[in-house]
Amino acid sequence: MVSIAIDGPAGAGKSTIARAASKELGYIYVDTGALYRSIGLYMIRHGISLQDAEAIAFNVENVQIELKFIQGEQRVFLGEEDVSDLIRTPEVSMAASAVSAVPKVRQFLLDLQKDMAKKNNVVMDGRDIGTVVLPNADVKIFLTASAEERAKRRCKELEEKGQAVSYQEVLTDIQQRDYNDSHREIAPLKQAEDAVLLDTSHLDLQQSIQALLDLVKNKLN
Ligand code: DC
Repeated sequence: MVSIAIDGPAGAGKSTIARAASKELGYIYVDTGALYRSIGLYMIRHGISLQDAEAIAFNVENVQIELKFIQGEQRVFLGEEDVSDLIRTPEVSMAASAVSAVPKVRQFLLDLQKDMAKKNNVVMDGRDIGTVVLPNADVKIFLTASAEERAKRRCKELEEKGQAVSYQEVLTDIQQRDYNDSHREIAPLKQAEDAVLLDTSHLDLQQSIQALLDLVKNKLN
């Protein structure tokens, strides 16, 4: 099986680029952020405080989480319920960020992620795929863009949805999340030593997808 690990900060376009590249390669695309988001949703629904790491660690044992691939698209299930769309709210983003800093949660999700890569050719995106989850991945890419460029893209996206936003606020938020993700104690966001850096600050979407595919093809040949 072939594994492509893609890590990088929030808002770098990882999921869009990884999804498109996986289609081109005929691999499945595994969005590991969805797992952390689903556990965040579970904690919200069960009234567990997101500040209470012990309670989160205790309750994660009861979470029944499963990834299914329906017409090639990843869907995430909590028990019988498909929560793939429910986990895309700002509230759940915050909860995901909180639960992802709890070691027991990361441990809980580790086997599930490893197992996906054992059974399938995967493009897997997250924060610690190349460093922790798939240290032997065939290709590791650290996908990033400057905080300013990521903020610009996010503003454009929100404006297209008709939401008024302040560039400065979006930028501050991105910088804060970068800081949190790279300074947490367990599995912080960092480039694996053997990962290739792909900076998309000066590339559009098509160019970014092509650059990623070129890197993969170069490595696999
Ligand atoms: O990529 P995303 O925004 O859907 O991720 C949601 C949260 O989960 C984010 O705060 C970082 C965390 N996460 C993580 O710690 N490790 C991963 N492999 C993927 C996501």
